[in-house]
Amino acid sequence: MDDRVRLLDRKVLFFGGKGGVGKTTSASATALAASRAGRRVLLVSTDPAHNTADIFARPIGPDIVEVAPNLHALEIDAGRESARYVAEVKDRIKALFGHQILKEANRQIDLAASMPAAEEVALFDRIGSLIRGEDERFDLLVFDTAPTGHTLRLIRMPELMEAWIRALSRSRRAMLGVEQDDRNDPIMLSLAERLERLREFRARLVSPRVTAFVLVLVAERLPIEETARALAQLDEAGVRVGALVVNRVLPPTSSDPFLVARQAQERVYLEEIDRRFTGVPILRVPQLPRDVHGLEALGTIAAALFPG
Ligand SMILES: Nc1ncnc2c1ncn2[C@@H]1O[C@H](COP(=O)(O)OP(=O)(O)O)[C@@H](O)[C@H]1O
Ligand SMILES: [Mg+2]
Repeated sequence: MDDRVRLLDRKVLFFGGKGGVGKTTSASATALAASRAGRRVLLVSTDPAHNTADIFARPIGPDIVEVAPNLHALEIDAGRESARYVAEVKDRIKALFGHQILKEANRQIDLAASMPAAEEVALFDRIGSLIRGEDERFDLLVFDTAPTGHTLRLIRMPELMEAWIRALSRSRRAMLGVEQDDRNDPIMLSLAERLERLREFRARLVSPRVTAFVLVLVAERLPIEETARALAQLDEAGVRVGALVVNRVLPPTSSDPFLVARQAQERVYLEEIDRRFTGVPILRVPQLPRDVHGLEALGTIAAALFPG
């Protein structure tokens, strides 16, 4: 119980796990529970295949909308973020270079923007600005993420980008030479500023008071193995796992032989989950008779996650 409350005391919660296990459902229900407890919550979907709109049964898009009292939602559009990011970078360098260099620089930027990783970088940039708390309307951010691999890459990105910016700074300093003071160099200043923002992002990501990762699974073989791998990778990245959500646990009342067999298998896996993932609070959510759709059904899941 204490663990559950503590989960809602964080400022940033990520929900991850295999496709279809109930990430969006759990993230949305948690966001709803927190908003009903009086926190000002922003639910952010970073999954390119957004489905928060389906759950709330109303359109949600790349602009923040209110979906319930104290609860806002946003589905990040990586394509749009990428375009915005490119425009911003071009704007920033416009002040620094002459026409001829600028033309070449813009060509390079357009080239870079067409690379497969560009949208991921832009998505990361948007997540970073949210996590650094740039929107003061919210005191809890709940991220509904894409299946595990994609999200773990995003989590490691501040570290990778820091190394990259350090290398850029080194080559810029070498270019300036010993005679030129690098303290007023606009490029050095801009790199230093980026580095500072990345550091702040990473500090918040690895602070257990600020951020927790919630891994969602169902009581089956593959999700259990994926959870074990994700736990190891998050640990390595220094990100705290605040809870596991075991979703779709069957109600224990059936006499139907098919369900009895399912339940026997489930019991084995539930025990395995308890045994293997010690040290992490485990929250169980029952299988509902129907898909989770609309605020009332979400409220049922929220009550299962956070009773009382
Ligand atoms: N506890 C539950 N009971 C009944 N249906 C559920 C439950 N959890 C999730 N679902 C349904 O399962 C489907 C997948 O859930 P979703 O949260 O979208 O998964 P993910 O985001 O991990 O892909 C949805 O149709 C959702 O309504
Ligand atoms: Mg989803």
